[in-house]
Amino acid sequence: MPSAALVPSRESGFADLAPRHIAVHPLTGHIGAEIEAPDLSRPLSPEVVDEIRAALLKWKVVFFRDQPLSHAEHVALASAFGAPTIGHPVFGFVEGYPQVYSIGRDRFATRHTGEPLIRPWTGWHTDVTAAVNPPAASILRGVTIPPYGGDTFWTNLAVAYDALSPTLRGFVDTLRGIHAFAPPEGQAGTADFKEKNRRRPLVSEHPLVRVIPETGERVLFVSPSFLKSITGLTPRESQQLLDLLFEHITRPEFTVRFRWRPGSIAFWDNRTTAHLAPRDIYSLDFDRQLYRITLKGDVPVGVDGRSSSLIEGEPLEAFTAGTA
Ligand code: SIN
Repeated sequence: MPSAALVPSRESGFADLAPRHIAVHPLTGHIGAEIEAPDLSRPLSPEVVDEIRAALLKWKVVFFRDQPLSHAEHVALASAFGAPTIGHPVFGFVEGYPQVYSIGRDRFATRHTGEPLIRPWTGWHTDVTAAVNPPAASILRGVTIPPYGGDTFWTNLAVAYDALSPTLRGFVDTLRGIHAFAPPEGQAGTADFKEKNRRRPLVSEHPLVRVIPETGERVLFVSPSFLKSITGLTPRESQQLLDLLFEHITRPEFTVRFRWRPGSIAFWDNRTTAHLAPRDIYSLDFDRQLYRITLKGDVPVGVDGRSSSLIEGEPLEAFTAGTA
């Protein structure tokens, strides 16, 4: 864990730490910073780890350029910041590297091709929020990148929470919602998707607003692809409030867009962001190959101090040999 002096807080405007071992270049007013850091394929000093962690808490997603890593180096980098989980609890991992999940162009081919988008926020998500303890962070590295297209977007869910009216904040503070794996709205899902999902079902109830222990920030923990309904509301009330919140969190002013290059790395706080994988690549003929590692997360806690509850499946554990 970072030392207390290195934990930036919202109250101080995140000004607690002036980094000395890395350079942090913010990309927008609310989210995203590019970091100049030492070679990430080598072991990092505790100071560099603390400074990257502090930048992550503040900027929610940080980017590195020209840091080509092997799978083993990717695992070592991730392990400096937490405990890697299995690549993906439902969709598996890269042969020989159980902590690494392959994100190839056609991983969900028929989920995304030729099917109409029902709503613009279909596809936005926070990783694996169907688990009772969704990953704390994700580290995605780009290997094969199209010459154009294939950008990823992230949004800052803490700023989105703050931008709601006090009245609506007070209401959403009291709510909880059901997160489950299911094909995107209006899409059937492939047989493979359905079968994997049937074998490893994951369903959890999370507070709509979670509190981040290190910063005290309140975060609108709504993950459009996973959050299916709000507990205690009628289906119509639930859908209409979710539509409002999903539209709200995807407002452009809360987001950053990242143009990948081979050797780029995106490292995001999965508790305080949602992201949108690109769709334009499905109308282009280029390859796109990235690899992701997720770090074990805590069970979210709401404003009332109540934790999330598991409805189906198992918590996401740190990967250890024998758990794959
Ligand atoms: C992801 O959803 O983790 C992958 C994002 C991407 O493909 O850009």
